[in-house]
Amino acid sequence: MCGIIGYCGPKPAAPILVEGLKRLEYRGYDSAGIGVLENDVLHLVKRAGKINDLRNALPDGLGGSFGIGHTRWATHGGVTDRNAHPHADGRGNLCIAHNGIIENYTALKRNLETKGYEFRSETDSEVIAHLIADLYDGDLERAVKSAVRLLKGTYGIVAMHRSEPGVLVGARNGSPLVLGVGHGEMLLASDVTAMLEHTKQVIYIEDGEVVRMTADDHRTTDTRDNRIDRSVETIGWDLEEIEKNGFDHYMEKEIFEQPESIRRAMQGRLDPDTATSHLGGLNMTNRELLDIERVKVIAAGTSYHAGLVASYLLESLARLPAGAELASELRYRNPIVERNNLYFAVSQSGETADTLYAMREIQRKGGRVLGICNVVGATIPRESDGGVYIHSGPEIAVASTKAFTSQLTAFYLFALLIARKRDMSYSAGLSFMRELERIPEKVQVVLDRAAAIREIAKKYAGAQSFLFLGRGINYAVALEGALKLKEISYIHAEGYSAAEIKHGPIALINEETPSLFIVPDDALRDKIISNMKEVKARNGKVIALGVDGDNELADIADDVMFVPSTNELLSPFLTVIPMQLLSYYTALERGCNVDQPRNLAKSVTVE
Ligand code: AGP
Ligand code: GLU
Repeated sequence: MCGIIGYCGPKPAAPILVEGLKRLEYRGYDSAGIGVLENDVLHLVKRAGKINDLRNALPDGLGGSFGIGHTRWATHGGVTDRNAHPHADGRGNLCIAHNGIIENYTALKRNLETKGYEFRSETDSEVIAHLIADLYDGDLERAVKSAVRLLKGTYGIVAMHRSEPGVLVGARNGSPLVLGVGHGEMLLASDVTAMLEHTKQVIYIEDGEVVRMTADDHRTTDTRDNRIDRSVETIGWDLEEIEKNGFDHYMEKEIFEQPESIRRAMQGRLDPDTATSHLGGLNMTNRELLDIERVKVIAAGTSYHAGLVASYLLESLARLPAGAELASELRYRNPIVERNNLYFAVSQSGETADTLYAMREIQRKGGRVLGICNVVGATIPRESDGGVYIHSGPEIAVASTKAFTSQLTAFYLFALLIARKRDMSYSAGLSFMRELERIPEKVQVVLDRAAAIREIAKKYAGAQSFLFLGRGINYAVALEGALKLKEISYIHAEGYSAAEIKHGPIALINEETPSLFIVPDDALRDKIISNMKEVKARNGKVIALGVDGDNELADIADDVMFVPSTNELLSPFLTVIPMQLLSYYTALERGCNVDQPRNLAKSVTVE
């Protein structure tokens, strides 16, 4: 979950490590630390808190041109200076930073303690430092290989030793590691954002591999010493894309980028001549696409909500049976994988452990899994049988926004492709495509109304509890609205089908509990209006999110927000935007840390 960075080169390491950690802070941010070697002394500086706390704690003039750093998302042991990484062996000879969970650490620790090793932290990770020290015979790479053979669990590790200045060794199993190849310098990090300032040339390290690097050389092998040659890839992202560019927060920037990011996800993939889409990465023939009998989406959090929208869409537009399931649940319930099922693993980061492991379980059973991912080169897209990159650009805020609408875009393209094969005429396809192409400009219209949404956020920012209610394809958007609000403003929020509240949640309604109803102009509109009236009859406050021109809403609801009208199946693109803005402004009103909400991390690489 955390961020790892390592540097060897000609420059002073500490500022590069701290800058890299700052870039990685979105991945996990409860504590941080660095280890650098200067004049044969291993200096460790570690602090609970933010990277700036670490920066302030650095001794003046700390030199040394190689070192490692870590930003933590605690799994084992409280958030303290002592538990922060890097962890050293007892003699101060070596240190390691670890991302993931060592499942057998208790047994390993007991064994090492009987040999006299003393532990100083409550973490699972510290065991790695002592284990490497125990196995070290003058070659760090060899000791790391022997150590990882004894580890059970997930890890991305970087290690350095006092006796081998200028050498860093990394190992990976289940937690990402990328090697950055610069001119006379080398970096190792858990994602590319940490190294963009230095190089765009990278090599992705795979599970079961160990990399040894110096300033001008690198070597990757498996744990049995077989050499692995992998080509250098060029990162497509620019430094500018990971800056805030004048916005106060990454979340704000990412919300406002959506017209552009949706456009990018569509670019070059729509063909008006045939009124269908082209998705080259699916790796499926026309016949195979026609043979699909059922689609199943597996994902977590916001990506799961995109999957719920997609399932509704695929059934309605393409008449293809479809469903979405939480990846964490699917994996452990012995899923039935049938020949003509097609699975989608949806993940912004492409690293979510629940989704990755569920994908592997399906593949193990012979199922075909396509990825819908943002981060190029991440584990899910690399291990999937094909898929679609959504090209949102880096999403840094923990609360996912632009990735959601781009994931939707990928699914709408796929649904159009399948619909045109099964049950949709050329002219119906063309008019759907034209409306899809107009979505970015309509999203812009909603964004231009942000000031009005901010006023509503101000009014309700003191609420203890919130309900988000929608139906049909917007049921999933209600779930997403509730997730967004609770994540960043810490207001308890629930998403429900508007029809379902009378079966229980209506008990929560009182003057203090606002309900946000999504009211599209479709067949369910009047039913939803009735549900709104039921809430009003119980003195509940109602915010209605309706479609332009639906003037009746103002007579029923306490507050109204509007989105432009569109094809009812396309409405989630527009209805989700006010949810994102409402959460963002509410969090601001409450003084919350929008981009780094408490207890969360961007990339959840543990189960
Ligand atoms: C979204 O706002 C959340 N932070 C979280 O639910 C996220 O969507 C989930 O962890 C899945 O992440 P992924 O898309 O990177 O797999
Ligand atoms: N399990 C380790 C710890 O709690 C590493 C957590 C992380 O990935 O940040 O320190």
